[in-house]
Amino acid sequence: MDKFLINGPCKVKGKVSVSGSKNASLPILAATLLFDKPVIIKNLPIVKDIKTMLNLLKSLGSKIVLSKDKKTVKIINKKKMKTFASYSLVKTMRGSILVLGPLISKFYKSKTSLPGGCLIGARPVNYHLSALKKLGMDYKIKDGYILAKTKGRLKGSMIKFPKISVGATENSIIAACLAKGKTVLKNCAIEPEIKDLTNFLNSAGAKIKWSGRTCKILGTDTLNQTEYTVMADRIEAGTFCVAATLTKGNLEIRDFNPDMIRTELELLKKVGARIKIDSNKIKITGPKKIKPIKNIKTKEWPGVATDMQSQLMVLMCRADGKSSITENIFENRFLHVGELQRLGANIQIKKNKAFIDGNTKFVGAELMSSDLRASVALVLAAMISNGKSSINRIYHLDRGYENLEIKLKKIGVKIKRLKK
Ligand code: EPZ
Repeated sequence: MDKFLINGPCKVKGKVSVSGSKNASLPILAATLLFDKPVIIKNLPIVKDIKTMLNLLKSLGSKIVLSKDKKTVKIINKKKMKTFASYSLVKTMRGSILVLGPLISKFYKSKTSLPGGCLIGARPVNYHLSALKKLGMDYKIKDGYILAKTKGRLKGSMIKFPKISVGATENSIIAACLAKGKTVLKNCAIEPEIKDLTNFLNSAGAKIKWSGRTCKILGTDTLNQTEYTVMADRIEAGTFCVAATLTKGNLEIRDFNPDMIRTELELLKKVGARIKIDSNKIKITGPKKIKPIKNIKTKEWPGVATDMQSQLMVLMCRADGKSSITENIFENRFLHVGELQRLGANIQIKKNKAFIDGNTKFVGAELMSSDLRASVALVLAAMISNGKSSINRIYHLDRGYENLEIKLKKIGVKIKRLKK
């Protein structure tokens, strides 16, 4: 298993380009199962989760033609596709549950493995299943698989999600595209990645309209050929913004829409960062003193993204005073705290709230990654620690950050990957 060696402290300086969004690419790739005609998707990030999704599509019968730079893919589906999404693939990437909606909508049956939980929480899929049931899917759970079928075409319906769920919203929108008649989804998640999915589907002739958290889909018989460029990764962009703020650095972060992280940028301005915003890039300079924020709360979009929580926690460890962070989305997303404490952080957890003392003098140590976003928090902490840190199990990071050590090295971080 690869690990990172980082020599701190360091300051980031220069320019960095943001890759395509993992969390926009996954539902878009799953939705290609709806298509009879070839589909071209551009700006894919070269990360493990995308490779897993492409392997899953291949296992279902899709022909995958990858460009030389691996960022563009042409997908051609067979008339007769398989509908079995195996545990061996689904267990490595929860986002695989997103093939359930298109398979049942297009092929009227599917045997999809339950994704199972992960370290940040149980990650149930009950909202996915109840919404698809309302569209006409019958299913039973057997040996960890969802055995789903439908008597002919799904039928449009009115569905109100009991709780806001990104994945359940995505699965339902994808399934409703080929359902008969109109579907109205209420209390939807409205993350930018979901809008990217609906822009992609509309570019192929789907009829999807938004008004607030309500999404209306008029089912069509088929979707047309299309070519679509995936949005940039707002969490990667936000992570680099925290890096500049944390290290008193000076970064130009390019090729993304700053509006996607407007809430996080407002927060970084409150912390003291100086930020200049253009249409597809920002310039950010870190402050001499990092101001603490009393109570940062993660929320569904447009609130502070839960995927930015661990990065913001590292920033608050260096703030000049006490702060707190409340994690409202996942029940166990403080796995980075134990590792930060090993670097010298003073953080107390009470239920879903972390109380951070600030003014931490981080000292380099041996660290263990636990999940994708916790791992990048350890990289940030190692960048401002005195001395050497090594971060183990960075396969967690490789799931969602493209060439991270190459990008960091280019902006002044003393980092190298040890291949094991
Ligand atoms: C997506 O996960 C993202 N993953 C997550 O990013 C992100 O943290 C999350 O949305 C929230 O923004 C992808 O897009 C591939 P949810 P998802 O359904 O769809 C509960 C990363 O680091 N829930 O909005 O699984 C659930 O347990 C990953 O890139 C149910 O109870 O998130 C959670 O507590 C991590 N039943 C809350 O809702 C359900 O059927 C929000 O989950 C579905 C969800």
